[in-house]
Amino acid sequence: MKQKPASESLSVMTEIVLPNDTNNLNNLFGGQLLSWMDRCAAISAHRHCRRTVVTATVNHVSFKQAIPQGAIVTMEAKISRSFTSSMEIFVDVFTEDQRGTGERTKCNEAIYTFVAVDQLGNPIEVPSVLAISDLEKTRFDGALRRRQLALILSGKMKPEDATELKALFFPPA
Ligand SMILES: CC(C)(COP(=O)(O)OP(=O)(O)OC[C@H]1O[C@@H](n2cnc3c(N)ncnc32)[C@H](O)[C@@H]1OP(=O)(O)O)[C@@H](O)C(=O)NCCC(=O)NCCS
Repeated sequence: MKQKPASESLSVMTEIVLPNDTNNLNNLFGGQLLSWMDRCAAISAHRHCRRTVVTATVNHVSFKQAIPQGAIVTMEAKISRSFTSSMEIFVDVFTEDQRGTGERTKCNEAIYTFVAVDQLGNPIEVPSVLAISDLEKTRFDGALRRRQLALILSGKMKPEDATELKALFFPPA
């Protein structure tokens, strides 16, 4: 299976927060943001493998900063690493200053895992990832650790088999 640069999977989506998207504090409802990020990440995973993809797990979401009604929200999703059929996708979420500079502020981040499937829903192989920028390399390097953690949490891996995590929590003396 060939190797593809991470940058080829970039997916960018921009939305404006309307009243229907908000919670009781007039900030963006978390579930709405999760839905937008899932779509953006799914497009990125599809661009990497050009096959049907399904969300296997949401590994991590941090709602660092509330996003007010009226804000313009941009999501940027890119693959960090693939394994056999699974792909880890990072989503970075930004708002932009609307009064003058247009300067962007990063307010949220999420990490999703997608699996490429055939028409019967069976997992299929995907290309590997070529990480080029420093950020792409950092995210590539951490992906195996995050995969092992996700598999332990979903009961698909025994903690004693998680080689990367053992090295993290129990460094050799
Ligand atoms: C995701 C899905 C295809 C995995 O199928 P499966 O029969 O469990 O297949 P496998 O156990 O062989 O796993 C396939 C890959 O998914 C990965 N995977 C499965 N569950 C995972 C999890 N919880 N976290 C991280 N990776 C996971 C496996 O590690 C494997 O990766 P690899 O091929 O790169 O090594 C299947 O569970 C599914 O279709 N789920 C529903 C997806 C869906 O409907 N999503 C929308 C939610 S509403």
